[in-house]
Amino acid sequence: MSYVFAGREIAVKRLKKLHELFLPATKNLLLASVSKKASLLVDLGCGPGYTTRALSSIINADEYVGLDNSEYFIDQARELSRDLPQIAYKLHDVTKTSFPVQKADMIYARFLLTHVHTPKRSILDWGTQLSDGGLLFVEETEAKECANNGCKMTIRK
Ligand SMILES: C[S@@+](CC[C@H](N)C(=O)[O-])C[C@H]1O[C@@H](n2cnc3c(N)ncnc32)[C@H](O)[C@@H]1O
Repeated sequence: MSYVFAGREIAVKRLKKLHELFLPATKNLLLASVSKKASLLVDLGCGPGYTTRALSSIINADEYVGLDNSEYFIDQARELSRDLPQIAYKLHDVTKTSFPVQKADMIYARFLLTHVHTPKRSILDWGTQLSDGGLLFVEETEAKECANNGCKMTIRK
């Protein structure tokens, strides 16, 4: 499944707006759930890195890595994070494991699940990329029910 907005300047602007809207909810979720320092935090489907940079200001970690399968977004993310040496970005299709990083203490994915064909399988795969006791956060605003090969999506009220 491809992300229709990927690779366009308007997509970066759209994701910035989306991020500004959802940042308070993301912040609440993370602050309520994480207290320990992480060694490595991985942001799946990071886009131009709005989430990765926010994570670096909310969660204390040694290293932050954003993964995305859009070369355009990865280039934008690198440019927008050039003053943040603790953040790196890698081009990677996150439906494929292993990830090109060491096992992470925390994996975070926002607004990604609706773009993957087999979300349940991906969630299970992502769990294998965590270190012992690591945390996986999947933040979505839509519910997705999967039965057999089909998926039905509903907007959460
Ligand atoms: C709606 S955007 C969300 C971006 C960011 N997580 C946020 O909340 O601002 C979805 C992102 O997932 C990426 N994406 C979709 N499928 C992917 C895949 N299989 N592997 C890696 N990235 C993917 C897209 O390129 C896009 O950057």
